[in-house]
Amino acid sequence: MSLKDSEEALSEYLEQQDHLTSIATFGQHHTSVSVYSTTTVVRAPEAVVRGRWSPAVDGFAGEQLLLNHRRSGRDLGMQLGVSRYYAHDAVLSSAHADLREREDGAITLPGHRRLKTGLTSTVVARRSGRQFSGRPASLNDLATVLWHGQGITGSLPVTVQDASAAVSLRSAPSGGGLYPIRLVVLAQHVKGLAPGAYEYQPHSHTLYPLHRIPMPVDLAAHLWTADVEPGKAAFALVYVYDLYVNSQKYGDSGLVFALIEVGGISQNIHLARTALGLIACDQGGYDKQALEKTLGFDGTSRHVVHFTLVGHGEA
Ligand SMILES: Cc1cc2nc3c(=O)[nH]c(=O)nc-3n(C[C@H](O)[C@H](O)[C@H](O)COP(=O)(O)O)c2cc1C
Repeated sequence: MSLKDSEEALSEYLEQQDHLTSIATFGQHHTSVSVYSTTTVVRAPEAVVRGRWSPAVDGFAGEQLLLNHRRSGRDLGMQLGVSRYYAHDAVLSSAHADLREREDGAITLPGHRRLKTGLTSTVVARRSGRQFSGRPASLNDLATVLWHGQGITGSLPVTVQDASAAVSLRSAPSGGGLYPIRLVVLAQHVKGLAPGAYEYQPHSHTLYPLHRIPMPVDLAAHLWTADVEPGKAAFALVYVYDLYVNSQKYGDSGLVFALIEVGGISQNIHLARTALGLIACDQGGYDKQALEKTLGFDGTSRHVVHFTLVGHGEA
């Protein structure tokens, strides 16, 4: 049978089997690459659900992580890591975390505003907003958002070999008080702040420029978004996870704990910006590797794990 004949025969057959065309169309609409692309365009339900692109990839990395995470609580390694963190030097390094912050060239932020809006009404009013106006935010608004997300709010006294010290505590909870998440501000339209990338330093409540001469970051080049104009947001917040800060203690659970921490920080930030009358939208579609390169994070021990746009909405 020639190819032409077989194509015609197939078309004829498909015309009689309506449901097969629907299955093929469904498969094509739900993925650009089928795991069975070498044999047929029809995807099995499992492949559709798992979204796997290649039969060589066996399962999700996330699935593997969760399986290991469930196990790691009983791991000797995890138990040793946890007990190690009660040693004097580990406690002292937590108590002196402020020494990791850099002073030279750091920009002091104004104090945070005390927000009076009721908690329940702020929780109800919080909505993701995507229509940014491009109107600049004040430095005070930025400082208030950052402080509510990660500011120092208390201290935990500790005694180390007869000497007393204190671990600074922050507005959002963190597994073991280790705080492996750092916030990077990509300023675009903030009064009194040159467009550029800055790391928020919670202990000194300062911004540290990531580049010697602040340079604007082209947000549109780092995001895949159809319904947002990133250039009109006042600033973006990038959440960076420093793997070794908590995985030395918690093993594989370190990542899980860090992502929980991101959620806590993020909710505080959304509530604060809502109370300030700003809109914001989390962005899942960012170019992780490109962003890490632009910001100078290695993508091995330091990873971009979340991204949020914040600014004034259109009136
Ligand atoms: C991790 C995460 C990623 C998100 N990514 C996007 C995104 O890429 N684009 C977008 O428009 N909204 C994004 N959102 C916002 C959600 O679409 C939004 O929170 C959801 O529709 C619920 O609406 P609400 O926030 O107004 O309550 C994201 C939210 C989260 C938590």
